[in-house]
Amino acid sequence: MGPVAIFCASILLALSMPSSTSAQTPPAPFLPPSPSPAPRFVNLTDLLSVAGPFDTFLDYLLQTQVIDTFQNQVNNTKQGITVFVPKDSAFASLKKSDLGNLTRDQLKTLFLYHAFPKYYSLSDFKNLSNSNPVSTFAGGQYTLNVTDASGLIRIVSNWANPKITSSVYSTAPVAVYEIDRVLLPSAIFSTEPALAPAPETKTPSDLAPAQSGIASAPKSAESSTGDATSYTTAFRLMDCMVLILSATLMLIM
Ligand SMILES: *[C@@H]1O[C@H](CO)[C@@H](O)[C@H](O)[C@H]1NC(C)=O
Ligand SMILES: *[C@@H]1O[C@H](CO)[C@@H](O)[C@H](O)[C@H]1NC(C)=O
Ligand SMILES: *[C@@H]1O[C@H](CO)[C@@H](O)[C@H](O)[C@H]1NC(C)=O
Ligand SMILES: *[C@@H]1O[C@H](CO)[C@@H](O)[C@H](O)[C@H]1NC(C)=O
Ligand SMILES: *[C@@H]1O[C@H](CO)[C@@H](O)[C@H](O)[C@H]1NC(C)=O
Repeated sequence: MGPVAIFCASILLALSMPSSTSAQTPPAPFLPPSPSPAPRFVNLTDLLSVAGPFDTFLDYLLQTQVIDTFQNQVNNTKQGITVFVPKDSAFASLKKSDLGNLTRDQLKTLFLYHAFPKYYSLSDFKNLSNSNPVSTFAGGQYTLNVTDASGLIRIVSNWANPKITSSVYSTAPVAVYEIDRVLLPSAIFSTEPALAPAPETKTPSDLAPAQSGIASAPKSAESSTGDATSYTTAFRLMDCMVLILSATLMLIM
């Protein structure tokens, strides 16, 4: 009697849940764009050290003094700047020797290559994609192409076409966009740079089939018990009603 009553109560409780949870999810309120505040001085070093993690990129900018070129552009021009910042994980996916073997000049060029000497908001990229190739700070042959497929923006270098994964900062005259790979121009890398082996996928091969077998077994069992559970729930519900009815009758009598 006791366990059945508890079971009944929990089923009735569960049945009452969905309606109450669906009622408490109103659509997100529409926020009107607030008037943009007056642009203030942006210190790129500070910006990159709090966002990210972009520590690897920032270290290279400081080491090559490219940071000064970029900061001067921010301070002293009306054109502004658009910087593409690879995440730390993007650098980690390269082999150490990919950048480690570059000369100091090549390294400097590579980081100058990660910025346009002009501010572009994300909405400018559609139009910008009609002006390929686009000049970078590295000048000359060091150009990038941009593509914008319904908002999916890719920055096309020769060996890597990363996408913009987020806008870190975008208020004229400074735009900083996160990208998921390091840009790799063929003028620096004559062949495609090797990628570092991914660290996680190092499981012994003989373990893999056994693991997938275990993983798939409960899954199929789960789906079949899912049907069985809903079936028995309906059954128990009828039991509950009969029980409640008889209990009420007993109380009356
Ligand atoms: C930006 O900040 C860093 C450290 O916070 C400082 O060393 C640097 O001089 C600042 N640069 C400018 C242009 O103000
Ligand atoms: C940029 O401007 C800031 C603030 O006006 C100043 O402190 C800094 O020295 C300037 N840096 C450069 C490289 O012009
Ligand atoms: C990079 O330099 C190391 C020695 O510092 C050398 O053994 C290696 O072959 C070089 N790799 C490439 C791709 O040039
Ligand atoms: C679009 O790009 C062209 C150059 O290709 C430029 O002349 C024009 O002003 C741009 N239009 C807008 C709305 O940015
Ligand atoms: C960039 O675009 C130009 C013009 O469409 C094209 O000629 C060039 O091959 C492209 N470069 C890359 C690296 O895709």
